[in-house]
Parts: sequence; C-alpha cells; structure tokens
Amino acid sequence: MNHKIFFQSSIGKKVVMASTGIFLMIFLLLHLSVNLFLFSGEKAFNEAVFFMRKNIFVRIMEYVLAIGFLIHILLGIKLHIENKKVKGEVDYAINSYFSTTFSSRTMIYTGILILCFLVLHLINFMIPMKYSNHRHLISDYNIVVSLFKNPFYTFIYVFSFFILGIHLNHGFQSSFQSLGLSNKKRLVWIKKFSLLYLWFICSGFSIIAIWFFFNS
Ligand code: HEM
Repeated sequence: MNHKIFFQSSIGKKVVMASTGIFLMIFLLLHLSVNLFLFSGEKAFNEAVFFMRKNIFVRIMEYVLAIGFLIHILLGIKLHIENKKVKGEVDYAINSYFSTTFSSRTMIYTGILILCFLVLHLINFMIPMKYSNHRHLISDYNIVVSLFKNPFYTFIYVFSFFILGIHLNHGFQSSFQSLGLSNKKRLVWIKKFSLLYLWFICSGFSIIAIWFFFNS
C-alpha cells in the first residue's frame, strides 16, 4: 500500500494513534519515576529535575514528546468525528453500545479532560520552572509542594489522574490490538498488564498529590 493511502486509511490512523499512545505511556512511567524523587527530599528532587533539564537527549525528547502529544490529540479528534459520521449513516449505535465498554465509549471526553489538565499542569510547573528566573526565590521542589497545599489543586489533580486511568484502561489494550500484537490468548495477559500499569500510574501520581497536601 502506498504510504499516503496507508496514513489516510482508518487502520493507518489507528496505528499512528497506538504508536503515539504507547510512546506517551512510556513518558508517563519516566515522569512518575522522576516525580517519586519528591519523597527523597528537596535536594534529591531538585537535582533530578536539574539533571533532566541539562541532559541533551532529554531535551531533544521534549520536542518529540510535544509532537507525539499533538499528533495523538489531533488524530484522536479526527477519528472521533469520522466514526460519528459512519455511525450516523449506518445507525448501529444501539448495537455497538452493548459491545463496547464505558472506557472505550468515553475516550474522546476523557481525552479532552486530560488535555485541560495538561494545559493547567504546564502553567503550574513548566512555565514557572523553565521560563522564569525563580531559582534564587523558590526551588523546583517548593513549587510542587506549595501547589499541593491548596485543596483545590490537589482535588483537580487527583480527579485528573482518575480520568487518566479510565483513558488508559481502554488505550492500553486497544493500542496492542491496533498494532496487531493482540490475540485471544495474549489478550488475557495484556488486560492484566494494563491493570497493573494503570494502577501504578494513577495511584503513584495521586499519592504524591495527597501526601504533600497532608504533609506540608
Ligand atoms: C503528581 C503528579 C505530577 C507532578 C508532581 C508533576 C510534576 C511535573 C513537573 C515538576 C514538571 C516540570 C519539569 C521541568 O520543567 O523540568 C512537569 C512537566 C510535565 N508534566 Fe507533569 N507532573 C505530574 C503529573 C503529570 C501527568 C499525569 C501528566 C500527563 C498526563 C504530566 C505531563 C507533563 C508534561 C507533558 C510535562 C512537560 C514535560 C517537559 O517538557 O518538561 N504530568 N510535571
């Protein structure tokens, strides 16, 4: 198949959604690992953030990450609109309702909520840490810790991690399916691994927010 036709086909788009999705899931693992340094104290976390910021490989990957997010979001919206059109024509919405899960039916809504979280999150951390000359006023560690002193932010963050869990619940297994890596036998393991992954990610991030809410 010509590569242009492949990327315009519905399966081509699903492959791109799945690959960018897996890339973003790996990012979440790395992001959580760095954030867990918060529990090792101020010096350890500031050093971990400093290391990431100075590392040339990480800096290049930040651009790849931004492009990955952008493709995943734009293509997700496009696929949703196209699927809606097809469903409108064939009118099998009632049948498909029973063959899908809550998590798969709400991908577009959970995705949009995660996007809203991401905008808020970058305003909270990335902009003050990267683009302001704050270091002699407040450390990276204290920017994070002081945010979670606020019950409003702690709630918004934990709620977003819950939404992220619903998104990952479908996203994880469906990405293996779209890449043709899943079959009936493997699906059992993919589902188990998916649950393990999303519990680790969601509870890991939530514990950080809740811990610093009660302990700072
Ligand atoms: C308790 C939870 C979280 C904490 C404490 C946290 C903390 C941070 C911090 C401190 C930065 C700035 C790093 C820097 O500028 O060097 C950052 C950046 C970022 N975070 Fe989070 N984060 C959390 C959850 C999440 C989640 C769930 C996502 C994705 C859905 C996410 C996506 C990002 C992205 C895309 C960046 C920008 C990466 C970059 O280019 O530096 N974060 N986060």
